[in-house]
Amino acid sequence: MLLEINDLVSGYGRLEVLHGVSLSVEEGEIVSVLGANGAGKTTLLRAISGVLDTWSGSVVLDGENLGSLAIERRAMRGLGHLPEGRGIFQNLSVKENLELGLGLRTDGAAAVRRDRDRLFDLLPALAEKIGEQASSLSGGQQQMLALARAMITRPKLLMIDELSFGLAPNLVDQLFELVVDLREEGGTTFLLVEQNAGVLEVSDRTYVLRTGNNDISGPSAELRASHDLVRSYLGH
Ligand SMILES: Nc1ncnc2c1ncn2[C@@H]1O[C@H](COP(=O)(O)OP(=O)(O)OP(=O)(O)O)[C@@H](O)[C@H]1O
Ligand SMILES: [Mg+2]
Repeated sequence: MLLEINDLVSGYGRLEVLHGVSLSVEEGEIVSVLGANGAGKTTLLRAISGVLDTWSGSVVLDGENLGSLAIERRAMRGLGHLPEGRGIFQNLSVKENLELGLGLRTDGAAAVRRDRDRLFDLLPALAEKIGEQASSLSGGQQQMLALARAMITRPKLLMIDELSFGLAPNLVDQLFELVVDLREEGGTTFLLVEQNAGVLEVSDRTYVLRTGNNDISGPSAELRASHDLVRSYLGH
């Protein structure tokens, strides 16, 4: 198992938000966590990446308990986190934004160039704008840039907080397909947290998170066809 989370409890100050969440991600999988507004999706990713402390329970990556390991150490172990709201620098160029992701690479400039070229093959719209300011990109292109920047660090596991946020439905489909292509490229496993149930089309397994607790889970294709999903996720 690449990632194993057991009974994770965490929150802000004295406010407990995650009340004992468990999930696992196998190497090569695309796993999604589906949850309504305020279910705790962002909090979950923050606790996994180390932005928030684990109050109890465990986060195990590749057999290693991350315990109280600092954020940067977790990143060095191959844990990537694409946060809510994209986190790209508007006044830097596309190229400069990508280069910010390179601090974690230790395998040399040639390998980095090769990966960048592969990413640009998948993202021709971005390649064309390499010298332009990020602020001149459309919302969808900015999201692609954020994804490219996360990918260029070559994470073992990339966690993405609402890739679909604020995008038109056709763009959402395109970005989800891009994740599938990146997985096929090899080497990266994905944990996608989403409000958008369209993620069920591209993930292998899905967990529903409901007010900081696990609800139903299973193969995404089964959940897609299930009435329980409507009850569990939409709460009726
Ligand atoms: N910085 C914070 N300080 C205190 N409480 C917070 C903070 N951020 C989130 N919360 C609370 O934690 C709970 C879960 O929020 P979280 O942002 O994890 O939900 P979410 O599933 O990501 O929602 P959304 O779909 O809106 O992004 C909410 O009740 C929220 O009010
Ligand atoms: Mg959120």
